[in-house]
Amino acid sequence: MPLPCTTVHYQVIFLLNFRFFTMDLGRVQHFLQGKNILIIGATGFLAKVFVEKVLRVQPEINKLYLLLRASNSDMASQRLQNEVIQSDLFSVLRDKLGEDFDSFISQKVVVVAGDISLENFGLINVNLQNEMLEEIDIIVNFAASTKFHERFDTSMGVNTMGALHVLNFAKNCHKIQLLLHISTAYVCGEPQKGETIILEKPFEMGQPLKGTSKLDIHEEKKLMENKIEELRAKNADEKTVKYGMKDYGIERFVKFVSICFLYI
Ligand SMILES: NC(=O)c1ccc[n+]([C@@H]2O[C@H](COP(=O)([O-])OP(=O)(O)OC[C@H]3O[C@@H](n4cnc5c(N)ncnc54)[C@H](OP(=O)(O)O)[C@@H]3O)[C@@H](O)[C@H]2O)c1
Repeated sequence: MPLPCTTVHYQVIFLLNFRFFTMDLGRVQHFLQGKNILIIGATGFLAKVFVEKVLRVQPEINKLYLLLRASNSDMASQRLQNEVIQSDLFSVLRDKLGEDFDSFISQKVVVVAGDISLENFGLINVNLQNEMLEEIDIIVNFAASTKFHERFDTSMGVNTMGALHVLNFAKNCHKIQLLLHISTAYVCGEPQKGETIILEKPFEMGQPLKGTSKLDIHEEKKLMENKIEELRAKNADEKTVKYGMKDYGIERFVKFVSICFLYI
């Protein structure tokens, strides 16, 4: 079957610890026992599967902090119920726990209203933030914009600055053991000696996939802000700003990245 291999979006992959991947299921279960995990982007396709699986295979997890976008904690709880907990995905766990299901969920899950495009995820509850910094052992970031023609400011906000905000938050966590960032940029395949036609080369920080100029995300952020100001100064309406920023995203993207489709 042909496997398309694309490299898209500016996104940084932070993998501080590979232990999670090299363990068999028994060891993963053991590793997760008693842990506190921050799961970011909890309403997303992959995150939901992860949340359900962790709760099902390791009920002795201590707490899951589930961060999702909402204007306040009540709205966040509502989203969690409607989009995650009440989904069919949880039917196996619901059947297994019977009438204990709801109390199990409320005992294990802490809902956090937050937005990774903001520093410290825009958390306003200082007590909750301190508790998280104190307690969290593992962070798994699933939050992303997966649209390939997204506004430049939105893509930058979530996929680039968001990844940086997650890293900065992790650095402040007192007992962090693992930060796992699920990336939008990806590659396929393991190199096979004598069989792999095109080998991957290691990249330096800031080295783009094409050209010689360095990619500096702070510079890109400034350019993005200037572009919005420029459009607004021309009294552009929101629709024009939206499409202007989408086109500007493509313009900046092709400066640094060649889009390639490999069929193997
Ligand atoms: N699905 C796959 O097969 C696959 C394969 C390989 C890699 N991946 C990568 O895995 C990651 C997750 O993919 P997915 O398919 O689960 O995506 P998804 O269903 O679109 O979920 C993305 C999640 O990110 C959240 N999010 C977006 N912006 C946010 C922000 N500013 N703050 C907090 N949360 C935010 C979304 O919340 P809202 O509900 O509020 O929008 C949503 O819950 C992506 O990086 C994707 O490229 C996915």
